[in-house]
Amino acid sequence: MHLKYSLVVGAIAASCAFAGVIVPGATWTDTSGNVIQAHGGGFLKVGSTFYWFGEDKSHNSGLFKAVSCYTSTDFVSWARNNDALTPIAGTNISTSNIVERPKVVFNKSTNQYVMWFHSDSSNYGAAMVGVATASSPCGPYTYKSSFKPLGADSRDMGLYQDDDAAQTVYLLYASDNNQNFKISRLDSSYLNVQSQVSVLSGSTLESPGILKRNGVYYLFASHTTGWDPNPNKFFTASSLSGPWSSQADIAPEATRTYFSQNAYDMLMSSNFAVYMGDRWRPSLLGSSRYIWYPMTWNTGSPQIVAADVWSIDISAGSFTAATGTAYEAESGTISGSAQLLSDSSFSGGRAIGWLGNGGSVTINNVQGVGKQQWVSLYYANGDSAWRNTTISVNGGSPVIVDQPNTGGGHTILSVPVKLSLQSGANSITVSANQNSYAADLDKIIVYTAT
Ligand SMILES: *[C@@H]1O[C@H](CO)[C@@H](O)[C@H](O)[C@H]1NC(C)=O
Ligand SMILES: *[C@@H]1O[C@H](CO)[C@@H](O)[C@H](O)[C@H]1NC(C)=O
Ligand SMILES: *[C@@H]1O[C@H](CO)[C@@H](O)[C@H](O)[C@H]1NC(C)=O
Repeated sequence: MHLKYSLVVGAIAASCAFAGVIVPGATWTDTSGNVIQAHGGGFLKVGSTFYWFGEDKSHNSGLFKAVSCYTSTDFVSWARNNDALTPIAGTNISTSNIVERPKVVFNKSTNQYVMWFHSDSSNYGAAMVGVATASSPCGPYTYKSSFKPLGADSRDMGLYQDDDAAQTVYLLYASDNNQNFKISRLDSSYLNVQSQVSVLSGSTLESPGILKRNGVYYLFASHTTGWDPNPNKFFTASSLSGPWSSQADIAPEATRTYFSQNAYDMLMSSNFAVYMGDRWRPSLLGSSRYIWYPMTWNTGSPQIVAADVWSIDISAGSFTAATGTAYEAESGTISGSAQLLSDSSFSGGRAIGWLGNGGSVTINNVQGVGKQQWVSLYYANGDSAWRNTTISVNGGSPVIVDQPNTGGGHTILSVPVKLSLQSGANSITVSANQNSYAADLDKIIVYTAT
């Protein structure tokens, strides 16, 4: 976790109102039209309302600004409430400290909401957890203290509330300088750590979440590569004290969990959970995006369904992945320095490379329905840095779309952009009038679901 402070104040991004569909990687806005700031999120359901707690990084800094609190009943449209936790000068949660990954549980007997979070100094040297309480879900919370659980380090953490009669809560945390991953039981007040129940020694795990399905506990976590993504893993056990299975992937390894890091995992019905991850952008932290995907057990183990555009039916406990129409980049007309690339990793074995810096491709006869539509760009960016590309529809003014590095020139990821397409045929030009190099373009998929 390397802190970087950025002075950049605005990002050119395709900002889109968040309507009836979930579009991983898009700029999500709340019901007031502001960009949702709830990174490293935690979730709680109270009645039919979902609460989303997270880190407000709108100041593009890793330092503590606020734990935000958003509410929704459909999991798609989120309203920002009062901040749940704000800095207190002279304490371990001042504006020069770190507060990350807030998670909240409810204690029925005391009617108390209890928030746990990663509480740290600016160089992550203190490695503590913090606790705060409130009498309503969004609080504001009263800060209690920060400490090292059972005397040991705690950095990335989560909470898991079991379904036993006592509703026992467990702290899940990266301990001992991120070497050992631990699960420890809280006492019945949920305010203190009581005893360690499990340790995955030498596992170097962080960003944990647990869900329980058919009596089996599933632990989800990433490994430790700072802000960079890595292939997140799952482990299973029939008891929280283990033994835990060896790790297995939740997504194709090369995608590094579709460029995301786990934040929270929520079971919606017996064969459907939501994976909620962060796509961190350390140079512009407030522009880090949310990567939420359905997960199913269709193969017998939890696997992400990499849906570009999807919807969720909370009462039915089901999801629908939208289908779109694909247009291969190589079906377009290239100009300037753009070149046809061949590799089996590309759809149809072909892609267009050397885009930007004089190279562009125009895909013709893209069928639209006469409204703003989601279009996903499938691309490969083998650089170590993010790229971006211009996109122009029917010769109109271009929008710029970010293209995170894909961890190799033959790994394909998709990024969404909302484009205004006319009814019938459209021409979409990628990378025209662009000074920098864009990523290689494999294909685009045009969706009609909104
Ligand atoms: C915060 O945490 C550090 C490290 O544990 C500790 O030394 C310090 O006294 C704490 N209190 C404040 C007010 O910073
Ligand atoms: C809540 O806290 C009280 C008192 O601290 C405790 O007795 C009770 O078991 C806790 N848990 C629940 C689920 O209410
Ligand atoms: C696009 O990427 C280039 C580097 O490839 C960068 O210099 C430029 O600032 C980026 N533009 C935007 C709008 O992000």
